[in-house]
Amino acid sequence: MTQDELKQAVAREAIKYVVDGEIVGVGTGSTANFFIDELAKIKDSIKGAVASSEATAERLRGHGIDVFELNQVARMSVYIDGADEITAQGAMIKGGGGALTREKIVASVAEKFICIADASKLVKTLGKFPLPVEVIPMAQSAVARQLMKLNLGPDCEIELRFKDGKPFITDNGCIILDIIGLKIADPVALEAQINQITGVVSVGLFAKQGANVCLLGAPDGVKTMNF
Ligand code: A5P
Repeated sequence: MTQDELKQAVAREAIKYVVDGEIVGVGTGSTANFFIDELAKIKDSIKGAVASSEATAERLRGHGIDVFELNQVARMSVYIDGADEITAQGAMIKGGGGALTREKIVASVAEKFICIADASKLVKTLGKFPLPVEVIPMAQSAVARQLMKLNLGPDCEIELRFKDGKPFITDNGCIILDIIGLKIADPVALEAQINQITGVVSVGLFAKQGANVCLLGAPDGVKTMNF
């Protein structure tokens, strides 16, 4: 099976968690895109969706699914999204696509985070994938200095994310600093430390509020991990 087929398989499985007549929170990325394609097949049974990025909103609308502003929504049963890395405890690195802040906000409103991922995303220790930090642009240097003071390890480097030769700008008009070379021993503690730095909008560590369920796609089938 290709990686895309594994992503399709978990996307199909995730449909079982969508509640009839409700609004579903939808993540960002290639796996979430497969989920949107599956959601389109049952669109008449749901009220609509809240999107975690402009790209997701556009794809949902393209499929004829109603997109609601989060401020219009009082409760949401599930938020369904991919991850860049996930541990056997449900802690994740997210934000490879740069949507970490809106992903975290929408996920915080949902009662359950259903992570959909192919088996390559399951890791023992988070940090091989660069950890994104969304930052207010004027605070770029100040935040980078504060991050370096956290003594994150001898191999740790901080890089401003670029796209098409220019600094990557998020849907919120912010920049992203990627921390590379990490081995994250205590994800909850690191998430709290980075959140406290002035100028940080959010960090792509989803540890204090991690996944509730992970649907992990492997060649021998989709495994369900409950946390
Ligand atoms: C988007 O900002 C990310 O958090 C994605 O959810 C994550 O990078 C997973 O993306 P893929 O499904 O494309 O691997």
